[in-house]
Amino acid sequence: MDLKKVKISGIGKAVPERIMTNDDLAKIVDTSDEWITQRTGIKERRVSDDKTATSDLCIRAAEDAIKMSGIDKDEIDFIIVGTVTPDYFFPSTAGIVQKALGIGKCAILDIEAGCSGFLYALAVARRFIAFGGYRHILAIGAETLTKIINWEDRNTCVLFGDGAGAAVLSPADSESCILSDALSGNGNLGDLLIMHGGGSRNPISQKILDDKSATICMENGRDIFKNAVVSMYDMAHETLNIAGVTTEDVKWLIPHQANLRIMDSVIKKLGIEKEKLLVDLEKYGNTSAASIPITLTDFVENGTIKKGELVLLVAFGAGFTSAGTLLRW
Ligand code: UT7
Repeated sequence: MDLKKVKISGIGKAVPERIMTNDDLAKIVDTSDEWITQRTGIKERRVSDDKTATSDLCIRAAEDAIKMSGIDKDEIDFIIVGTVTPDYFFPSTAGIVQKALGIGKCAILDIEAGCSGFLYALAVARRFIAFGGYRHILAIGAETLTKIINWEDRNTCVLFGDGAGAAVLSPADSESCILSDALSGNGNLGDLLIMHGGGSRNPISQKILDDKSATICMENGRDIFKNAVVSMYDMAHETLNIAGVTTEDVKWLIPHQANLRIMDSVIKKLGIEKEKLLVDLEKYGNTSAASIPITLTDFVENGTIKKGELVLLVAFGAGFTSAGTLLRW
């Protein structure tokens, strides 16, 4: 079977206007700018207001991505949203985005793969186009994690922020295309990062609200740290091996932006020079599924990533999931 090559034809991002600095957080919990900066590399994050849901950020990011791709919105035949903070349990956030964009007929799907959600969305979208039948697919990573934070828990509230990044995937007519991808998961580690309350195991009740268990629970940040380094290292190698290239061929590395120390450990283990590591974590914190497309958009827009360069994306996240994508921009 003749599989089609697939490229990213447009990208875009959206973040809420409100900035919350480390000093702002130090007024709420027992923390400091020094601790957060040294342990994570984060200086500030964006926080959405009461009226803004995840789909609102998706829509803004998607509009930019569609504009850059040069296609008409009605040419989109699939919308995939990676998120753990959907507007509702149902209907899907992808459907809300479809309605808001005014796209008459297309497939819609939400993917729940934690911080790897955008790379999972890319991998699914790539195959639908590669096998034929679908031409232009909107793949989005988006979160409003600040809506599920326990603002009394300093272990977690300093880490996360809100945002969305979108990509339009289209058939490729040149060397600029996705070269390889890989996905993985390890449900045995699911308890490391979990929201205990609000689902079918522990439905919403007064107790769930009182003990704040419908918020992010992370009891062992160090274990996540270690697993993040190993899994992103593994996925980087697997993705490069599939494409038949080495770390030397990679021009830019965009890891999931969770913690600067995690990213530093990954490049050290991979033997990749620091100059190749692209980071904007200091501005947005950990935006989960949105972090990679936001960083990709920022560094394409500022001219760092140029046509023809190899860009490696790697992610890890709740689940536990991990993923890698190698593309020639
Ligand atoms: O998308 C995935 C999401 N999760 C992650 O990415 C988490 C990955 N893990 C990490 O990024 C790091 O483990 C953290 C940043 C969460 C923590 O850094 P660490 O170097 O592993 O610190 P630690 O958990 O070992 O805690 C060191 C100390 C503790 O105090 P004691 O026990 O040494 O007295 C904590 O209570 O730092 C304390 N601490 C804080 N202090 C000030 C924990 N959080 C804070 C805080 N401000 N926000």
